Amino acid sequence: MIDDRPIIVTGASRGIGLELVRQLLATGQTVVGVSRHPPDHPETEGFRFVACDLSKPTQLPTLIDTLNALAPRGLINNAAIQTELDLVTSAPVDLVKSVVADVFVDLVAPLCLSYGLLATIATAPKGFVCNVNSGLALAPKVAAPAYCAAKAGLGNTTIALRGRARAWPNVLVSEAFLPLVDTEMTAGRGRGKIDAKVAAAAILNGLNGGKSEMWIGKARILRLINRLAPGVARHLLLGSVPASFD
Ligand SMILES: NC(=O)c1ccc[n+]([C@@H]2O[C@H](COP(=O)([O-])OP(=O)(O)OC[C@H]3O[C@@H](n4cnc5c(N)ncnc54)[C@H](OP(=O)(O)O)[C@@H]3O)[C@@H](O)[C@H]2O)c1
Repeated sequence: MIDDRPIIVTGASRGIGLELVRQLLATGQTVVGVSRHPPDHPETEGFRFVACDLSKPTQLPTLIDTLNALAPRGLINNAAIQTELDLVTSAPVDLVKSVVADVFVDLVAPLCLSYGLLATIATAPKGFVCNVNSGLALAPKVAAPAYCAAKAGLGNTTIALRGRARAWPNVLVSEAFLPLVDTEMTAGRGRGKIDAKVAAAAILNGLNGGKSEMWIGKARILRLINRLAPGVARHLLLGSVPASFD
């Protein structure tokens, strides 16, 4: 995967994104990280940070121009938020704010970045766009309807982008479906989480192998269940209404 042209990783400040940055830099690949805050570690050679709040659509055109000027060869749309909020009992202002933020960061921003950077990425001999998705794209959970809707939409976006990118056989449009990963997003909930290092390595291995779809860990089992019995998959993921919502 090593190339002079950088790979962009959104959500680079922590979690899986930070692991992607570290592992790419370790191979000698140059990386551009995008998030609101820079990663904790001091900037290493080959790393450049671009600050952007992906929930703010007004910031996206400038971001696309800035990133195109860096001539990237790859884009990993990794940044996301998952707001667990009882939309039934929330004040309307909080309800709308949280749903809009989830949909903008998790769907609108990756969609805009993919299409806005595609023509530049296509000028690289081995260009790629990779959307980081979740098993929750297949079936939603009660506690985070906006996140699940955005991830389902992201899956749809990946298919459309793949169709648009057909003109460039050198461009891989890829999607990684992750199981529960031990990061700030899942702090204090869930069991059997995989390490962020493992998740990042699986994504990069898949990209190195030219995979257009990656079903990682338990996400693979969920996909199988969803194929055989979608009702069972829905039941498994829906879960119950969290006690904190009562
Ligand atoms: N953790 C899991 O169990 C799990 C499971 C399936 C899929 N995934 C997917 O894996 C990806 C990474 O998740 P993670 O668990 O590593 O999450 P995380 O630890 O919460 O990190 C999220 C990253 O997104 C960035 N971000 C959040 N809001 C942003 C905004 N408004 N503008 C710009 N950047 C923003 C954060 O940086 P700043 O706060 O500095 O902006 C941070 O770098 C996501 O796409 C997620 O849906 C995670």
